[in-house]
Amino acid sequence: MNICVIGAGYVGLITSVSFAKMGNNVICVEKNIEKVDSLNKGIPTIYEEGLNDLLIECLEKETISFTNNLEDSIKKSDIVFIAVGTPSLDNGEVDMNQVYECIKEISKYIDRYKIIVNKSTVPVGSQKYVKDLLIKNGVSCDKFDVVSNPEFLREGKALYDFFYGDKIVIGHESQKSRNIMNLLYKPFNIQTIFTSPETAELIKYASNAFLSTKISFINEVANLCNKVGADIDTVSMALGLDKRISPEFLKPGIGYGGSCFPKDTVGLISIGEKYNCPFEIVKSAVSVNNKQRLIPVDILLEEYHDIKDKTITLLGLTFKSGTDDIREAPSLYIIEELLKKGVKINAYDPMVSDEIKEIYPNINYFNNMNESILGSECIIICTDWEEFKDIDLDFVKDNMKEAFIIDGRNMLSLDEAKKRNIKYYSIGKGYTN
Ligand code: UDX
Ligand code: UDX
Repeated sequence: MNICVIGAGYVGLITSVSFAKMGNNVICVEKNIEKVDSLNKGIPTIYEEGLNDLLIECLEKETISFTNNLEDSIKKSDIVFIAVGTPSLDNGEVDMNQVYECIKEISKYIDRYKIIVNKSTVPVGSQKYVKDLLIKNGVSCDKFDVVSNPEFLREGKALYDFFYGDKIVIGHESQKSRNIMNLLYKPFNIQTIFTSPETAELIKYASNAFLSTKISFINEVANLCNKVGADIDTVSMALGLDKRISPEFLKPGIGYGGSCFPKDTVGLISIGEKYNCPFEIVKSAVSVNNKQRLIPVDILLEEYHDIKDKTITLLGLTFKSGTDDIREAPSLYIIEELLKKGVKINAYDPMVSDEIKEIYPNINYFNNMNESILGSECIIICTDWEEFKDIDLDFVKDNMKEAFIIDGRNMLSLDEAKKRNIKYYSIGKGYTN
């Protein structure tokens, strides 16, 4: 099929290469010309496992190309995916401006029947809104169908999820659009749910809000574990053995981040308010998360009272391992608080994008974990990068001004820290007194 994907961000790029790999002709339209140039050269603009090889393969087979020419790309395609950003506004509502801009442009260039697919996460009712907007812009209703096809891709595992995900959700109105979407996704051989657009849109929000709630729940249990001397790993494992609960998404830490959970939880709350259906449970999940990500700062203040001019090392800046993405990363909230309190910050992350250096130019960034620790008074582990498990605790003991680790991702062992007389705090796996 001839496919156009608008937006070459995390979702648009993965969608583009995945459809290209399956033999479709894909044109990915991106307004940022630097991204277009880089992608056409086979250089990915984000880090994602397996993306580099797949991009090069598709470019060589000429099943994919990148451009900023929207008109040409739309005219050539049968299906247009919208995968532009839909960030949160300050009041929690979803900012739909990028989507509306796309629709304005698409309206100008629809010359024959096309399916317009909302891939970005958009509020319930958006399919209808987009349809009405196209008609208002003068597009005749026999020239298009609007379909909702939310993504369930985890960053870092996005290609795997695209090819082997648990489900594909298609919210459609006409039988024609259902048949075409079915043909497109059939080769993936994944259970596909065909439903109304509103149901599809809500599935996405409900999924992410439920998963966020699971994380906030286990984080509250973990906080109690530390107080009563229980072990969160065992609690979580035993809890997960119950098939009704499952072991997934029961890993405690300093909270969830990323481009979806924080945005979609407040998004669902805001949609609920509009319809007088308050989401009290989701509101609590959000407020637990807001507190959880600042636990390291609370611990530091309990320990030192005044932390001005102390040197603190942050290990990990991305919102989780396996990605270079810092959107809504707990580390950012910790950095804000520490800078307000006059702390000197050292930071090391194996993958983080350079964007963070522009946001926080006054942090000392290191390319090596050990160097970032030298002379520091506390390490805060913010991301679950595997290499942090191999931290040399003897080196920590010998080279820090004060050996103190706040392990926000439970990467290390309390016993190993105790043996070396290192002060240690975990999230529900105990701490030294
Ligand atoms: C997406 C969806 O927007 C979001 O709803 C979902 O929850 C997560 O995934 P993501 O792919 O991560 O977001 O967004 P981002 O990395 O911001 O990429 C969007 C891309 O679209 C950017 O490269 C931007 O330059 C591009 N864009 C935006 C266009 O090419 N044209 C536009 O008109 C607007
Ligand atoms: C998520 C969803 O999983 C995906 O289906 C959706 O469509 C996009 O949003 P992503 O944000 O890439 O994907 O990451 P995910 O692996 O789900 O983790 C989200 C956050 O939750 C991370 O900050 C992670 O550290 C945290 N998390 C996850 C926990 O704290 N504990 C867990 O047990 C699992």
